[in-house]
Amino acid sequence: MSTDMGLVPLDAHQLRTRKSLKWSRTRSGLVPLDIAEADFAVAEPIREALANAVAASDLGYPDFDSPRGGPHLLAETFADRMDVKFGVPIDPGRVEICAQVMQALCCVILEFSKPGERILTHTPSYPPIVAAIERLGRKPVLVPVEPAPASPPLSSERVAVIILCQPHNPTGRIFTTGQLEAIAERAAVDDAVIFADEIHHDLTYEMPHRSIATVGNSAGRTIVFTSAAKSFNIPGLRCAVGHFGSSTLHRRYLQIPWHLRSGAGILGIEATVAAWTECEPWLTGFRRQLRQNRALVTSAFRPTTVGHVPPDATYFAWLDLNEIADVAVDPLATFEAEAKVILQRGTLFGEGHSRFARLNFALPTTRLSDVLSTLSRCFFDDLQQTTTIQLK
Ligand SMILES: Cc1ncc(COP(=O)(O)O)c(C=O)c1O
Repeated sequence: MSTDMGLVPLDAHQLRTRKSLKWSRTRSGLVPLDIAEADFAVAEPIREALANAVAASDLGYPDFDSPRGGPHLLAETFADRMDVKFGVPIDPGRVEICAQVMQALCCVILEFSKPGERILTHTPSYPPIVAAIERLGRKPVLVPVEPAPASPPLSSERVAVIILCQPHNPTGRIFTTGQLEAIAERAAVDDAVIFADEIHHDLTYEMPHRSIATVGNSAGRTIVFTSAAKSFNIPGLRCAVGHFGSSTLHRRYLQIPWHLRSGAGILGIEATVAAWTECEPWLTGFRRQLRQNRALVTSAFRPTTVGHVPPDATYFAWLDLNEIADVAVDPLATFEAEAKVILQRGTLFGEGHSRFARLNFALPTTRLSDVLSTLSRCFFDDLQQTTTIQLK
């Protein structure tokens, strides 16, 4: 049965028997609100596109060269959508398709910086970003997201690449035009390449998404990558799409060996085209659902000592547990033990965030409400002297 937003919630049995990361590794009795997957069925047109390809055994190599091939259609679809929805002009001739946004990010680091050079990004940070910078032998320059003016308060040394996660994971912030201008200015001063990770660009609420590629003169130094993975809940299909703001950037990227910078399969390509051409009504329902859930999370934590600013975008609530720190040495372990809820640990998102947690609220409202009630009840029953978590 679908929700009044037109989404089909997956039931307990379906969730428990899934093979993907979020539920497959979760012990019975626990509810995972950590990994960025949503607990809803994938949109019908996507399932149909996949079923058709499987029924036809059309599971060979995608044709990246033919103008009639899936990759070409995907590049055109991406270009239209980015222009119409986000006002980002895209040249389909400078579009590249790969398996993952993080893969493109690694390739960009390799091609546009040298070992030992500095790469700027925000903290807290989606963990693989800083891991990639460090593993590839570059130095992360970490700028706090909030209050978040762009100029890093640290060294004046040049940064080679700026990685901008807009909208931002884990805080859900959308950087304002003023903040984007400051980042663009810094990039211009340093002659840095901007890698814009816009994987969450559809999941906005009141404030529209704004790509840094539309700010000032930054388009020519910007590489934007996104995918349908988060908005349409298909991260396992491995398909990401990006645009290079100049032919120089694009030419340099093409020097990277094909097998490092490719890897999208025919199913991911088919599904992404279906998502971007036929699933806008589903997306509208998903956003409405998330907005309702965001309100629920906000009202649950408002009267408590948990610090929480409702996100501008994404389905993440970034929770500041500093004020409840003295009631539990490890609040997340307590949540898990008492309320049977798994949240993502703040430590993963960088130094200084050990008393934070990320909560994924992409689940049916009734289930979310139950989880928040349990959290509240547990804390009232067991820790009522010292905590103040409660639902309105
Ligand atoms: C900001 C951000 N970038 C990238 C990814 C991962 O995307 P991919 O699997 O395409 O690398 C995620 C996943 O949650 C994300 O939140």
